[in-house]
Amino acid sequence: MVLSLTMGEHVSRWRRLMIVFLALMIGLSCAKEFPKDVRKHLKRLNKPAVKSIKSKDGDVIDCVHISQQPAFDHPYLKNHTIQLRPTFYPLGLFVESKVASSPSEKSNSISQLWHLNGRCPENTIPIRRTMEDDILRASSVKRYGRKKHRNISQPRSVGPDQNGHEHAIAYVKGDKYYGANTTMNVWQPKVQQRNEFSVSQIWIMAGSFGVDLNSIEAGWQVLPELYGDSNTRLFTYWTSDAYQSTGCYNLLCSGFVQISSEIAMGATIFPLSGYLGPQYDINILVWKDPEEGNWWMLFGNKYLLGYWPSFLFSYLADSASIIEWGGEIVNLESGGQHTTTEMGSGHFPEEGYGKSSYFNNIQIVDGSNTLRAPKGIDTFTDHSNCYVVKTGDNGDWGNYFYYGGPGRNPECP
Ligand SMILES: *[C@@H]1O[C@H](CO)[C@@H](O)[C@H](O)[C@H]1NC(C)=O
Ligand SMILES: *[C@@H]1O[C@H](CO)[C@@H](O)[C@H](O)[C@H]1NC(C)=O
Ligand SMILES: *[C@@H]1O[C@H](CO)[C@@H](O)[C@H](O)[C@H]1NC(C)=O
Repeated sequence: MVLSLTMGEHVSRWRRLMIVFLALMIGLSCAKEFPKDVRKHLKRLNKPAVKSIKSKDGDVIDCVHISQQPAFDHPYLKNHTIQLRPTFYPLGLFVESKVASSPSEKSNSISQLWHLNGRCPENTIPIRRTMEDDILRASSVKRYGRKKHRNISQPRSVGPDQNGHEHAIAYVKGDKYYGANTTMNVWQPKVQQRNEFSVSQIWIMAGSFGVDLNSIEAGWQVLPELYGDSNTRLFTYWTSDAYQSTGCYNLLCSGFVQISSEIAMGATIFPLSGYLGPQYDINILVWKDPEEGNWWMLFGNKYLLGYWPSFLFSYLADSASIIEWGGEIVNLESGGQHTTTEMGSGHFPEEGYGKSSYFNNIQIVDGSNTLRAPKGIDTFTDHSNCYVVKTGDNGDWGNYFYYGGPGRNPECP
């Protein structure tokens, strides 16, 4: 009797211990990451700064010596001699002297919010500092700065995307493309949930969707999960394996080589277009240097941002086979309702200038390194009752389109 009682007590104490132990284990494995990993990743991303600038939106912009930027963590870039300019610009209306012109000439064009608080010195590049919270919002340290891998099963012409991604785009395909140019106005679309987003961008792509897609992307975005707020930010992205394990946004992995000391990727764009107010637009030109093979980006018609080295890619090491311009949102509403996340200005194309969002002067770079109007622009929308694209062509604007919409509305319940 006595013996079994003590044994019982013993067992239950043992059991209690086990339960505490198990609870601890479960607690530990549920915690997303050990802070140590987060700290290590922060140390990898945030390079020593020559100067730091605090921006009104809460960002800290670190001016990092150009030779210490994240790109040079890449094993293939260890001995890389940085290219300070492309060997060739695409032939167009363009005059090279416009690039790297005097700062005074740049003062009243659209730029970035942090410029109100300072500039980076020469030979440095501005990098938006990653904070611990930025990483903690990601699904894991490894996925921080990357798009969620999903199988984009060539949605551009067949049926809706299964993952809630919706597009309103113009595109060209079926040829060899060596770049693209466009001007787009910049808005702050409302994003309903923190893990939804709204982007407007160029895609320069080759390969197969969902399998081995190579993509170079640039534009503006509202992406609370990455930045922790709903500001409109300039971004770039690249992948060479359909978003699986290569590439990232901005400078959040090694790859893109930045040379501009003036533009920070991921930083808030300022000022923005308003409904019936002044319109502000940005110009993005991406082209492949025919000599070195690198893909360069010129922002705002004068800031030479930097380049994606050719070796990052397989198909794009040669040329692009599809170019897209337009908007994308993700709809994560459940229960049969459509999200109220806006695309573009949140207004339909039919409203026109000053109300709707646009891309104009759409151009591609052809095999002779010449910018020209693309032949045979097609459009695609997943849900044309929610987000619309409407193309046009005139003397001033060249090939253009209005796009976007409010999301949920009587026609898109
Ligand atoms: C870089 O240069 C060093 C010394 O010349 C050489 O040993 C190394 O293999 C090179 N690395 C790459 C990736 O080319
Ligand atoms: C790109 O397009 C813009 C207008 O959107 C134009 O001003 C610029 O000159 C073009 N770039 C080149 C290199 O032709
Ligand atoms: C993605 O979709 C393509 C075409 O629909 C298919 O061939 C491929 O196997 C899919 N890949 C994955 C990883 O599911």
